[in-house]
Amino acid sequence: MTITEFKTACSNIEQEYKTKIAAAADLPAVEELRVAALGRKGALTELLKGLKDFSIEDKKTAGPLGNALKASLTAALDEKTAFFAAKQINDELNKTNLDLTLPAFPVAKGHRHPLSVAMDRMTTILSRLGFEWAEGPWVEDEKHNFDMLNIPKHHPARDAQDTFFADTGMLSMVLRTHTSNVQSRYMEKHQPPIRIMAPGRVFRNDSLDATHSPVFHQIEGLYVDKHVSMADLKQDLTAFMQGLFGNKAQIRFRPSFFPFTEPSAEVDVKCVFCQGKGCPVCKGSGWIEMLGSGVVHPNVLKNCGIDPEVYSGYAFGVGVERLAMMMMNINDIRTFYENDVRVLSQF
Ligand code: PHE
Repeated sequence: MTITEFKTACSNIEQEYKTKIAAAADLPAVEELRVAALGRKGALTELLKGLKDFSIEDKKTAGPLGNALKASLTAALDEKTAFFAAKQINDELNKTNLDLTLPAFPVAKGHRHPLSVAMDRMTTILSRLGFEWAEGPWVEDEKHNFDMLNIPKHHPARDAQDTFFADTGMLSMVLRTHTSNVQSRYMEKHQPPIRIMAPGRVFRNDSLDATHSPVFHQIEGLYVDKHVSMADLKQDLTAFMQGLFGNKAQIRFRPSFFPFTEPSAEVDVKCVFCQGKGCPVCKGSGWIEMLGSGVVHPNVLKNCGIDPEVYSGYAFGVGVERLAMMMMNINDIRTFYENDVRVLSQF
């Protein structure tokens, strides 16, 4: 074979196979052509065997020609394979009536409940202030919910209008009316130093309106050690509120009364809706009542087996919903319980 014959053979093979590839009817036909052209006994392979008889000069011309032909046939075969593969997928899709141009269904993402978000922020701040997590039962005996907390039998807080009584026959049980039951539960088992927070659900026989719910949440704080005073309470509560509402948050103490603290104070936060100017949320006063607090009454310590001559403490009880309403700009407590996803998904 001369080099001229080689060149002619190359262009013949190219023409022949390009025509055949273009005419191929399906994937198996393309694969057959791939073998016929490039396989071990294929047309190109056979032709290239003739190379060994060429002079060095001719090899230099023929080699690259052979390689170029191989590349161009491979490209043509690959293109046709891809064409049939795509066609196969399209045919399947057409059979199923799938329309890939339709917009995808949005997948709804889950959300944490705004109350959980608020609770988490509160307990995170308190734990940074050194409070440890504690819990108590929802169904509680009167001893821990009232008696040990220095709430006498005739106290109006026990009135059926406030308290849900759970009739168990023998023991008189109640749904706890505050998280303060964790104070008595914890102190009867632990000696100071005590520094706990007790978040949880509480129950009162109130009817549901924009600011009241028969089930709501509190976080109890309790700190008992030597020399704990009202000053510690004020400092810790200021840090707590500033953690929630920023460094400009202001609180004020108002003298109050709770049977289990003496002295007692109601803590107000300057209204974040009107910055203290007065608005419907704060009922024009510029302040919103946030929590009850005070210095733990000596009787309570005594009832729990802690010596009030040695130890003193403070306690507070925060209304979680109220605080969450301030944090999240919500003006109706029912928002938390209706579970309307349009509302929940905003948090
Ligand atoms: N237990 C009180 C309430 O539910 C709040 C409180 C807790 C007050 C601790 C003083 C100390 O209203």
